[in-house]
Amino acid sequence: MSKTIVCVVGARPNFMKMAPIIRQLQLVKDRVVPYLVHTGQHYDQTMKDTFFRQLGIPEPDRDLGVGSGTHAVQTANVMLRFESVLDEVKPFAVLVVGDVNSTIACGLVAVKKNIPLIHVEAGLRSFDREMPEEINRVLTDQISDLLFTTERAAEANLVREGIAPERIKFSGNVMIDTLLANCKQADSLDRILQRYGVALPIYEKKYALLTMHRPSNVDDPDTLSRLISVIADISNKVPVVFPVHPRTQQKLSDAGLLSELSGRQVALLPPVGYLEILGLMQSAQLVLTDSGGLQEETTALGVPCVTLRENTERPITVTEGTNTIVGSDPEKIMACVDDIMVTGGKTGRVPEYWDGRAAVRIVDEILRHYLQAG
Ligand code: UD1
Repeated sequence: MSKTIVCVVGARPNFMKMAPIIRQLQLVKDRVVPYLVHTGQHYDQTMKDTFFRQLGIPEPDRDLGVGSGTHAVQTANVMLRFESVLDEVKPFAVLVVGDVNSTIACGLVAVKKNIPLIHVEAGLRSFDREMPEEINRVLTDQISDLLFTTERAAEANLVREGIAPERIKFSGNVMIDTLLANCKQADSLDRILQRYGVALPIYEKKYALLTMHRPSNVDDPDTLSRLISVIADISNKVPVVFPVHPRTQQKLSDAGLLSELSGRQVALLPPVGYLEILGLMQSAQLVLTDSGGLQEETTALGVPCVTLRENTERPITVTEGTNTIVGSDPEKIMACVDDIMVTGGKTGRVPEYWDGRAAVRIVDEILRHYLQAG
């Protein structure tokens, strides 16, 4: 008889990571049945439904509907609502991905019930404890039974933190499984510009794609203002396409900064779907971002990436990929953009095991680890 594994998603970046795992689990459904829980951390159509549809993720078996709130409120609500799901479903394991609040919340509930926790994308460290995700990463890894990593440096981080090496498996990158599976279906630049009514002249490989939503960049009005002013300067050299995250939208409007970008070569879009962001990345001359996912995706696509953060938990995107870390200093950002425009930027290579088969390795290992006898 097949056994149930509870798989958890909560926020936008989780969806791309979970899609290939669910697909792979569905191939072995005589042995394992996935039970998909969406915590509801992200709930807007643009932040959730579009992704489920485009990535072919089945409707969640349960939506906890927690929504937004402070970290304490959001995490506590996920925990309270997730516990009864485990009582009812009685899974042999809980699988979480990434580093969002839903990841640690569900992980904590599982281990307190003695249900083994599996963490996909373990061991990434920015070494910056002011980042909410860093706390989520460190704590989730400490309580996990089986830890899947995307790059070799992650294993060293985990071992240093006392995790037994036999519990760590180098699987590669599930986000890149999704990217490779969807590259050909990506939306074209023209269609996207038309869909959002962008009238600016924007052409293939002649624009910068910008995404920005980290609290460290958008929550402090001074930092946000400094970044917006450098974006305005960049737009004098190259048009900027900027899909705006709801959090950023709110902070920009609170700080009265939206007017700084009007009348410029900046196309402001609402949050876009997966096939759209993929199309926008593929066609860009460069990407400016504070997202973890985009740092990896640009490395896989060979598109130069300028990271608007002081550090990265994904060092392989810098050592092997196309990523450069510049922080929020306007001079450094501008120098890096200028360099890319003159030289074409870093070319890089695709890291080991970012080959589209990470989910296959993960599911094989789960079967071996927990269901050997059955
Ligand atoms: C969360 C993750 C972050 C991830 C990001 C991707 C944590 C701590 N952070 O940050 O790691 O990179 O998702 O987007 O888990 N909102 C909406 N609609 C939605 C969701 C959010 O309008 O569907 C607005 C709300 O005003 C909310 C704010 O965005 O307060 C922030 O949402 P939240 O889920 O708290 O964090 P993110 O900034 O999205």
